[in-house]
Amino acid sequence: MIAESGTWHYGLIARWWAEFNVADPEELAYFRAAIRRFGEPALDLGCGTGRILVPLLADGLDVDGSDISADMITAAQAQAAKHGFTPRLTVQPMHQLDLPRRYRTIYMCGAFGIGGRRDHDREGLRRAYRHLEPGGALLIANHHLPYADRDEKGWSHWLPGRRVGTPHEWPTEGDRRRAADGDELELVSRLAEFDPLAQRKTLEMRARLWHGGQVVKEESYRLKENLYFAQEILLLLDQAGFHDLAVEGGYTGRPATANDGMVAFVARR
Ligand SMILES: C[S@@+](CC[C@H](N)C(=O)[O-])C[C@H]1O[C@@H](n2cnc3c(N)ncnc32)[C@H](O)[C@@H]1O
Repeated sequence: MIAESGTWHYGLIARWWAEFNVADPEELAYFRAAIRRFGEPALDLGCGTGRILVPLLADGLDVDGSDISADMITAAQAQAAKHGFTPRLTVQPMHQLDLPRRYRTIYMCGAFGIGGRRDHDREGLRRAYRHLEPGGALLIANHHLPYADRDEKGWSHWLPGRRVGTPHEWPTEGDRRRAADGDELELVSRLAEFDPLAQRKTLEMRARLWHGGQVVKEESYRLKENLYFAQEILLLLDQAGFHDLAVEGGYTGRPATANDGMVAFVARR
């Protein structure tokens, strides 16, 4: 399956997110503090299965969600319902974001640059700007810089003499985990293409459902990811009209340094 959106957050992968991916306390504390600082209502842009959104609702915060994947939104609805919430959740790609509300805080967590279309990324930031109240803030958190890999493996793909041929071989074993109903889910991924000039990588994923020790379903997906350095995102934010731009290290809230592989951008309307 190759979703037109250039993402893989559908079907068994959406189920994986709903089953196994939970927010850690540091992440939640970061978004909670951001919403308290910049204000409500808040929008979780690319909210996925509600991993961050649902715990924030449980804190009593007014947070809406939006995502390109109907499967992720269906899972988010189910997670929210389990806790007695019925949040406003919308299926929309961020470059077509068109919601009736305006927000004091909009945050993205690991959702920027997916899909492989730079024109869509640019328009997504413009749309986020338009959905903010004057003085409101956009946060682009959990952004991994292209040189983030500590083991140099990922970064070495950029170097002409060190480029390994693509697609890579499929690993023989994936990450296999037991779901709540006793079935097992397995994900196996590989690098399919890498283009340093376009600053884009394409990953492939095979998602398998195991029942009684047999594979009963297999799905294949591709995800295209635009790779952005920090200064490029700052330029895009500036072009979209944002001001008071800051780059923070991880989820610390302190200014980023060259040693931070994962950063968060904070920008004001
Ligand atoms: C890595 S997941 C993170 C989900 C959620 N933010 C979290 O932290 O749990 C990325 C999410 O971004 C969504 N996404 C990717 N491209 C998008 C786009 N152009 N517009 C809206 N959502 C998008 C995907 O469907 C997926 O749910």
